[in-house]
Amino acid sequence: MGFSDETVETVRALYPSLADGHAYLDGAAGTQTPQPVIDAISDAYRRGLGNVGGVFPASERSTAIVAACRAAIADLVGGLPNGVILGPNMTTLTYRLARVLTGPGDEVVVSRLDHDANVRPWTQTGARVRWAEADPVTGELPVEQYAELIGPGTRLVALTAASNTLGTRPDVAAICEIAHAAGALTFVDGVHATAHGPVDMHALGADFYATSAYKWSGPHIGAVVADPVALESLHPDKLLPSPDTVPERFELGTAALADLAGVTAAVEHLADLVPGTGSRRARLVASMTAAEEHELALFAAMMSGLETMPHVTVYGKPARRTATAFFTVAGTTPQQVAEHLAGRGVNVWSGNMYAWELTGALGVRDSGGAVRAGLVHYNDRSDVERLLEGVAELRSTRPGRT
Ligand SMILES: Cc1ncc(COP(=O)(O)O)c(C=O)c1O
Repeated sequence: MGFSDETVETVRALYPSLADGHAYLDGAAGTQTPQPVIDAISDAYRRGLGNVGGVFPASERSTAIVAACRAAIADLVGGLPNGVILGPNMTTLTYRLARVLTGPGDEVVVSRLDHDANVRPWTQTGARVRWAEADPVTGELPVEQYAELIGPGTRLVALTAASNTLGTRPDVAAICEIAHAAGALTFVDGVHATAHGPVDMHALGADFYATSAYKWSGPHIGAVVADPVALESLHPDKLLPSPDTVPERFELGTAALADLAGVTAAVEHLADLVPGTGSRRARLVASMTAAEEHELALFAAMMSGLETMPHVTVYGKPARRTATAFFTVAGTTPQQVAEHLAGRGVNVWSGNMYAWELTGALGVRDSGGAVRAGLVHYNDRSDVERLLEGVAELRSTRPGRT
């Protein structure tokens, strides 16, 4: 199924920034913003905002914006609105929750596949740490090791729903099942995964599911979604006068209210990528399934192009993945590759992608990392072609190459 050419054009036309002609292959670091999201944010300011919980219309609008945002994120990930904790980004929220969920004496299991934002918050609380290893050749996170790593002393297992570097989608459901059987909690980093396909946090077995709207066409807002009943038993540090209700007691200070309106618009945008009927949740699942197919079809062309270039080394070959490639080019540093591509209007990242442990295990972290080129729903064939042309040039343009 995927997207028809017409759908791709319609979707792309909604993104004003794509008109600059660049191939935006940097979506894993943050997506572009469609007009309805820009409009929702400016409309919120234009109509007038007040702080939440007041008795006048501007405050009531803000209260409604927050409620709508929680409902939208709940639909996106298959959670409940009053289990949606909002914050500036995933890293901040994860540090906050790590201090509520774990402490000295607890045992936590983290993985070397993860972005550092789902590692360091757990290893810096004084908890005992056990490491799940990623296979540096395949890029997989083998499930079997978790039976050894998780035991009766395990308080929490932190793992990613998809690697922001290799794209690996580990078998999260199987790992969470092992964790739950031992009475441990699971904290699943969905920051990369959410942008690339439908999400059902319950099917994954995530007690906590983290996501960031700026990875899926929204503004810079993060969220962690959990069972509101489970949140009732947790008591984070907070100001005395601020609400003690769930989920509000997990949120510090005043929210970026207009941006929250943008988050809701981003979810609506994702739900409308392909025409559909039914609830927003049903339309999201259909749209994101089509988006994933679209991305993976383009990705197959991107990978076969990269893999046939003798001067390119591609890292990882996981069985289930997002459309995210990580590669190096012989004789050219990752930074030089990014600069060369930028000169041709192709936006990619180079470096360690904050996947500190993984890039260490791959042996590239201390030599400038590698290049990441990723696809999201608004990318098209020409983006892939331009990447491949740009990388191919690096073979022939350098002196002394054969
Ligand atoms: C997989 C993954 N996890 C966590 C993060 C951190 O997210 P945030 O920027 O919202 O703190 C990122 C950001 O790139 C990411 O890709």
